[in-house]
Amino acid sequence: MRLDLAGKAVLVTGAASGIGLACARAFLAEGAQVGLVDRESVPVLEGDVMAVRADVTDEPKLAAAIATVARRFGGLDVVVGCAGISGPVGTPLAETTVEDFASVLAVNVTGQFLLAKHARPWLSPGASVVFLASDSAFVCAPGMVPYCASKGAVVALTRALSVELDGVRVNCVCPSVVDTPMARGDLGPVLDDPAFPVQAAEDVAQHVLYLASARSRTVDGQAVLADFGVSARSGFPA
Ligand SMILES: NC(=O)c1ccc[n+]([C@@H]2O[C@H](COP(=O)([O-])OP(=O)(O)OC[C@H]3O[C@@H](n4cnc5c(N)ncnc54)[C@H](O)[C@@H]3O)[C@@H](O)[C@H]2O)c1
Repeated sequence: MRLDLAGKAVLVTGAASGIGLACARAFLAEGAQVGLVDRESVPVLEGDVMAVRADVTDEPKLAAAIATVARRFGGLDVVVGCAGISGPVGTPLAETTVEDFASVLAVNVTGQFLLAKHARPWLSPGASVVFLASDSAFVCAPGMVPYCASKGAVVALTRALSVELDGVRVNCVCPSVVDTPMARGDLGPVLDDPAFPVQAAEDVAQHVLYLASARSRTVDGQAVLADFGVSARSGFPA
């Protein structure tokens, strides 16, 4: 399938690591122009690329970073929100502090809201916004209350923005566990157990590219759940 993303102006947050970095590489491989936004420094990548340091929870700095990328590329055709944190994984509710909860929502939800808000004036007609949500929006493991709540909110934010923004498609991708520094830090060696279904950041990037491209022009306001079919299985004993 031809994605026709060559020359498109793309902005990716969370581009220094994991899924955001894989998305940046995949867009560059398609010949897109890519702006990389992260609070950490981004690896050097080949292609028409620019990196801007910003925290997605810092509204003035994020707005300035978006404007810097958009001015350089003459607007934005695609915006991908990958910046995210997992928060206190494996922490019972009683030990989850209000600060933990607020910091996860600040990055994972408010960060995506601010991205959409400040990218909006730069978006071309027919632009595509793609957020990273998670299967944790739909199925939950214990000890991850802030993260699960935040990803459910990203799915609702996706729908709200899809309705709000005329001429712009807004979708999100909801992968199960992806082998990235975030998941390694949270889960450790279980990721290497062949019985445990783990996907690669490059798998997720392919969904993002499809949603970014005009091939998905009829898909809007949707959450694409990529979990090896795990959530489709009923608890029925058969
Ligand atoms: N790894 C998984 O299993 C998995 C599964 C489903 C969804 N996701 C989601 O995918 C996205 C990317 O996760 P990942 O696994 O690649 O993690 P990662 O930790 O490898 O990368 C996240 C990136 O976001 C950046 N970031 C974090 N907070 C930021 C902030 N406030 N401002 C700017 N940049 C910030 C980090 O510096 C990092 O470069 C996240 O939204 C995550 O919730 C991950």
